[in-house]
Amino acid sequence: MRNRSEVTPSPLCIGVDAGTGSAKAIAIDASGQVVASESIECSFESPQPGWAEADPEVWWRASCDALRRVMSHPAVTDRAIASVGLTGQMHGLVLVDGDSEVVRPAIMWNDQRTASEVEEAERVISRETILTLTGNRMLTGFTAPKWMWLARHEPESIRRTRRIMLPKDYLRLRLTGAAHTDVSDASGTLFFNCEQRKWSSEMCRAIRLPETLLPEVFESATVSARVSADGSRATGLPQGTPVIAGAGDQAAQAVGTGIVREGAVSCTIGTSGVIFAALDAWRSAPEGALHAFCHAAPSRWHLMGVTLSAGGSLRWMRDTLCADLVREAEARGQDPYERMLIDAASAPEGCEGLVFLPYLSGERTPRSDPDARGVFAGLSMRSSRAHMIRAVVEGVTCSLRETLVLARRCSVTVDRVRLSGGGARSAWWRQMLADAFACPTVCVGQTAGAAYGAALLGGVGTGIWRDIDEATALIAEVNHADPGPGAHKFGAIASRYSLCANSLAHWFTHSACQQ
Ligand code: XUL
Repeated sequence: MRNRSEVTPSPLCIGVDAGTGSAKAIAIDASGQVVASESIECSFESPQPGWAEADPEVWWRASCDALRRVMSHPAVTDRAIASVGLTGQMHGLVLVDGDSEVVRPAIMWNDQRTASEVEEAERVISRETILTLTGNRMLTGFTAPKWMWLARHEPESIRRTRRIMLPKDYLRLRLTGAAHTDVSDASGTLFFNCEQRKWSSEMCRAIRLPETLLPEVFESATVSARVSADGSRATGLPQGTPVIAGAGDQAAQAVGTGIVREGAVSCTIGTSGVIFAALDAWRSAPEGALHAFCHAAPSRWHLMGVTLSAGGSLRWMRDTLCADLVREAEARGQDPYERMLIDAASAPEGCEGLVFLPYLSGERTPRSDPDARGVFAGLSMRSSRAHMIRAVVEGVTCSLRETLVLARRCSVTVDRVRLSGGGARSAWWRQMLADAFACPTVCVGQTAGAAYGAALLGGVGTGIWRDIDEATALIAEVNHADPGPGAHKFGAIASRYSLCANSLAHWFTHSACQQ
């Protein structure tokens, strides 16, 4: 006779990711297998050059659709739901009024309107003080300067605001009624003391942000609220399901790829590109050259650098110059990016001198310049579209390499790099990354990314796994690539890229003044 525990399926953990291009929901079981996964596209608006805004209601509706589809999946109906883990794009500023209505569209992580607020903060508060209080430099994409911008340009929006929150926390508000956040996402606001893992009263005072507007902050795997009757009706999740605090998308992605202990380093190529190094003890980067944020595990932190338009540059290339390749690929049932990369691989390494700077939404790491813009430099009569696509891939790779060099300078040991995101799907690009980083690269067995990490965190919060180390031990490595002969040549490609980026720094500043 079979034991009852052998036939009762384990409860499922749900992960939800309010991403930049889509909202995603997944369900995983206790062995870490993804049993259902749904994603609904959602876009953002750019009402002025360099701005990026989205209606949080769009994230909520897309998340509800994705969740309802997951909940009605044959592998999910009839199964108990242990937990919900939330994650999402970081740094976005959502304002809600006393009736929990959204006051204005959210200002997103890739919005660059706040250059003069950053400049003012560095002058008035000083870069050193900001670094001491938060562990980080103030950057245009972070939340603090967005608040300062609104205070200057939209005092009426500020006056109506009763609560501010980050994108995934707006989903929580609708799902549970609670205004909560977690330490990893709070880290990206720049009014959070990352070393002490609590809001920084000094920074709030300095930017005139009343602390009464802030959500309560929890460690990531803590159950902080439960699905309400309204939340249940909208999503199909059972009322009362525990909802954990969750994590910013980069910390959740790191959990989902097993980057949780010092020595583990990842590179994620989605819309943005991120180099992420886990730390077992607090340390910040000299002069804030890399972000130093709380990790999703208690008493752990991470260093991170961001290329704002990584996969985003390739998407721009697809949408502006590759319509025929997209049509051709779609007719054959092929992924358009795969088709584009086949063309790119036919161009010579180094693209005969053609360089692409992937600064379509400005530049964050390492040059931190909101006025920087995308550049093709070194076009010749021999340059073909294949050269241009390859130059985009090489440019994104060079930008990520520059961040990895910074991480190594911050005493991060890089034995190998775990790759994830859409960019990791191509064996050709994976080899280029191994060559560029001069170390082996590997992928992980699942590709659900940040939603997967959020689901694992939910399982940790509800006792399915003892802790994050036990949960992430489920993650298998696949697709190992060692640096090859291309590693030698990549040094020259990277030097040309850095020379081009450094030479144009003055031009970016000057041309921004002329606009
Ligand atoms: C991280 C960052 C982006 C967003 C969107 O600092 O700005 O990666 O979180 O994914």
